[in-house]
Amino acid sequence: MLTLLQSSQCNDGRTWNSMDGKTKTEKAILRLDDQEIELPIFTGSEGEKAIDISSLRKQSGYITLDPGYVNTGMTKSSICFIDGEEGILRYRGYPIEQLAANSNFVETSYLLIHGELPTPEQYEQFRQSLRRHSMIHEDMRHFFDGFPSSAHPMAILSAMVLGLSTFYTENENPEQDTDIDLTVCRLLSKVRTLASFSFKKSIGQPFIYPDNSLSYCGNFLHMMFRVPAEPYHVDPEVERALNLLLILHADHEQNCSTATVRMAGSALTNLYACIAAGITSLWGSRHGGANQAVLDQLATIHEGDWDVARYIELVKDKNSSVRLMGFGHRVYKNYDPRAKIIKEACDRLLDHLGVQDPLLDIARRLEEVALNDSYFVDRNLYPNVDFYSGIMYRAIGIPINMFTVMFALGRLPGWIAHWLEMRSDPDDRIHRPRQIYNGVKLRDYPV
Ligand code: ACO
Repeated sequence: MLTLLQSSQCNDGRTWNSMDGKTKTEKAILRLDDQEIELPIFTGSEGEKAIDISSLRKQSGYITLDPGYVNTGMTKSSICFIDGEEGILRYRGYPIEQLAANSNFVETSYLLIHGELPTPEQYEQFRQSLRRHSMIHEDMRHFFDGFPSSAHPMAILSAMVLGLSTFYTENENPEQDTDIDLTVCRLLSKVRTLASFSFKKSIGQPFIYPDNSLSYCGNFLHMMFRVPAEPYHVDPEVERALNLLLILHADHEQNCSTATVRMAGSALTNLYACIAAGITSLWGSRHGGANQAVLDQLATIHEGDWDVARYIELVKDKNSSVRLMGFGHRVYKNYDPRAKIIKEACDRLLDHLGVQDPLLDIARRLEEVALNDSYFVDRNLYPNVDFYSGIMYRAIGIPINMFTVMFALGRLPGWIAHWLEMRSDPDDRIHRPRQIYNGVKLRDYPV
């Protein structure tokens, strides 16, 4: 029986460097019945603490039970830092606000994947490589013919990304992939092409091949919105907005899809297949599907001519099972820093495009009412990244069923960075959680 868990300083536990530069040791003591078990404490670079339980079963026969992994650190990672209480998000140490204001998606991808911002030469080389690999094998283009036009673009995207592994077989065994940088650039560039082709397929328009004279985001907009019969000019404001949206979605540490990529990768599955797994995980409405749910809800309020205050009452009513979509977050118990940035960008974009969107007015009103209501205040429920992103995508002309695909495109560098980090971790081993069996006990088959 667990009687006490305490943390104490000692001389023989794991050592760590504290913020004042001194080497300290700390351990936790777990008392189970009459047994005392020492567990090392690991402290991260931002002072977060974790009890290392990797030896617990060996020492005691017990495992830990943590449904939904709400209290389980699956890895140490140096890619992304989140402080949900303070509303902080940083990629490789850089605050998201600074990246959003000054970087672009290609540079941020490089940062996440390589750990540092690129020098001008590295940036140029990376950009050139992304340009060079924008096309997909012509045989892959024919794969699209087999999907019904009603197919969800996420299903197509996942299948096609897996399909890439059949063309680039040198990546089949990640331990023998000698040119991983090439694989990374192929993925970043071709997923963008596959995403736009899946959109064209869903609306019955011909595919538009990439134009490598354009920027990463400009090229995506070109493939999405150009038709052979008319010229198409990339609007720099739209391109800027798209860069911002992709940067804000580029990583979020061990979320469901990133954990999926790591889980699949831990079996030494190749990068293409792991990304395909990440895409399927992101597809779910509890995860990447939320921005679509926000717009559906705003449309319901608009079409039903709901009074916003009355709708908020419905959300608060526990019998209704209606939640305010785009509000609340498992990690952020403060304003999601990305939501602040998106809200401003959304106003700017809609002004620029001259779009009057009644759904935006409803969103603003919902936010105002909710933030002044004790139900939301007491539960720390603030708008999350998805509250305004869908309105921006809609203004750009991206249909609702493509929202999750946009999320996947943005999250891609984060998934890749985590896969690479895991592959180079000396502690890396196959991920194999345990369970507590609570089914029927031994019984005989009736003869
Ligand atoms: N609307 C109304 N009430 C809410 C909401 C909401 N959006 N979110 C949480 N609550 C309430 C819950 O009913 C619960 O109330 P109670 O204590 O009276 O029972 C309390 O707040 C805590 O909620 P939990 O579900 O325990 O919080 P959790 O951290 O598990 O869930 C989640 C987080 C799933 C994001 C939740 O806030 C939610 O469903 N939000 C709406 C969906 C959404 O916007 N998802 C996008 C997340 S961001 C992303 O994935 C990129």
